[in-house]
Amino acid sequence: MKSDRLPDKLPRHIAFIMDGNGRWAKRRLLPRKAGHREGVKTLRKIVDECFRAGIPFVTLYAFSTENKERPADEVETLFSLMKEYFTEFLGEMLEKGIRITVMGDLSYFPADLRSIIGDAVQKSKDCTDSTLNIALNYGARSEIVRAVNAAVEQGKPVDETSFSRLLYTADLPDPDLVVRTSGEARLSNFMLWQCAYSELFFVKTLWPDFGKKELYEVLNGYAARDRRFGKVKQ
Ligand code: FPP
Repeated sequence: MKSDRLPDKLPRHIAFIMDGNGRWAKRRLLPRKAGHREGVKTLRKIVDECFRAGIPFVTLYAFSTENKERPADEVETLFSLMKEYFTEFLGEMLEKGIRITVMGDLSYFPADLRSIIGDAVQKSKDCTDSTLNIALNYGARSEIVRAVNAAVEQGKPVDETSFSRLLYTADLPDPDLVVRTSGEARLSNFMLWQCAYSELFFVKTLWPDFGKKELYEVLNGYAARDRRFGKVKQ
């Protein structure tokens, strides 16, 4: 498959399940945190590439509700990488017109990190060129339960459209394409409602090794897929 060129048909929204940082580090006899640090370098490059290609919405699964159960020092490392990321690159993102949105229950995060993230969301809220949506302490089942409770609170029946508005992704289109790296073929509690018709790509490459070539391969693969949304082609 041609992978050095961008196809004509691009997704409007691409989501990444960034997996394999730990294995990347292990293969090099490095601590897991070295894998996560490398993972942040990859996410910066890939997010840039996506926006440069003209994909307006990018979602990253950065911290799941289950990731809290990891050893405390690994969770600490992830928190400090997030702090660095939001502090160092906010200016650059604002210059590029990138709106930052987050989905998940931030109440678990330390106050200083919450405030850094809140600041990034607030300062970028009027940016209109592209949207970087980051899943933080996110789980799809708890997102759905939260939306059901909000619907009950409203006291009137919902339909698919009004229910979608109660999810974290109320103002985002559904992902057209979900990419999971590292060879695992599952969604792991990620955007279960929103991915109803997403094209799924499971690639063997570990997240820190995922580069422009691998991105273009996935985008070309996506362009070649026949999306029928359960209907037949006329
Ligand atoms: C999965 O690899 C990766 C994660 C659980 C964390 C992803 C987070 C980052 C790349 C950095 C923090 C985010 C931001 C927004 C700066 P794994 O550790 O499960 O890898 P393994 O399956 O090989 O062990």
